[in-house]
Amino acid sequence: RRVTVLMGGISSEREVSLRSGAAAAQALEQAGFTVASIDVGDDVAALAAAIRHSNPDVVFNALHGPFGEDGCIQGLLNLMRIPYTHSGLLASAAAMDKAFSRQLFQQAGIPVARGMVVRKGQCAVDPLPRPFVVKPTNEGSSVGVYILRQGDNRDPLHDWPFQSDHVLVEEFVPGRELTVAVMGDRALGCLEITSERGFYDYDAKYAPGGSKHIMPAQIPADDYAEACRLAVEAHRVLGCRGVSRADLRYDDTRPHEHPRLVVLEVNTQPGMTATSLVPDIASYCGISFPELVRWMVDQAEC
Ligand code: DAL
Ligand code: MG
Repeated sequence: RRVTVLMGGISSEREVSLRSGAAAAQALEQAGFTVASIDVGDDVAALAAAIRHSNPDVVFNALHGPFGEDGCIQGLLNLMRIPYTHSGLLASAAAMDKAFSRQLFQQAGIPVARGMVVRKGQCAVDPLPRPFVVKPTNEGSSVGVYILRQGDNRDPLHDWPFQSDHVLVEEFVPGRELTVAVMGDRALGCLEITSERGFYDYDAKYAPGGSKHIMPAQIPADDYAEACRLAVEAHRVLGCRGVSRADLRYDDTRPHEHPRLVVLEVNTQPGMTATSLVPDIASYCGISFPELVRWMVDQAEC
């Protein structure tokens, strides 16, 4: 079968996507597919022509961020009637908007951090006690995310470093960073990420040695099972397909209280380099990277 990998794109995660795409293309070849790759730019007509020209049975979507992860490319592929990997249009759009997906999680009883959407210039005082986290609603890889702590004298909600006229403000949940890979209707496992920088930001994610993966996460079995259950439930509530990855916080800093788990977000297009989180978790479960991408291609729909 012929598979065309879409990578690059025009979001701030372009470089990450080029790495995901190159690694996925290599794994797809190892899995026996005939592979073409397209570096996606901003010319939609040229993109559609290049996809048609490559004549794929399935498109492997290795894009991240706006236009690649938010339903746009999924809509184009729906129109072209070409099956593609990962989630469809609606789930992609819902998951990419962190404010919207939070609402769906809350309605489904999935625990989230305390938070609200704030419009630029709307808020004269801190909307939450510090420390709190300010996030663009539609970015990935922690692009634009920052933590406001006691004593920071940056004007929190006016000089934010991104285009959008609104942001998501969330309570900073102390403790540990967990992530769960979901494959269809089951969780593959829960991994803990540690970062010496203390904040798992863009540099910690992608600089060599910037972070460590601990698989399986060393937390009590009932909390491990609960993290996995919440990730599958979040995947299901959003209507995701194929592989997704839920990011969670695990607060075990209060000695006399049961640890608290909150879901931060679901990534419908998780990083796909050979050492990214999902392939790492899959490999721990005995699923090689070529086996993982083969399964993803088998799940493709439009
Ligand atoms: N946004 C990056 C690629 C991730 O979630 O893995
Ligand atoms: Mg993300």
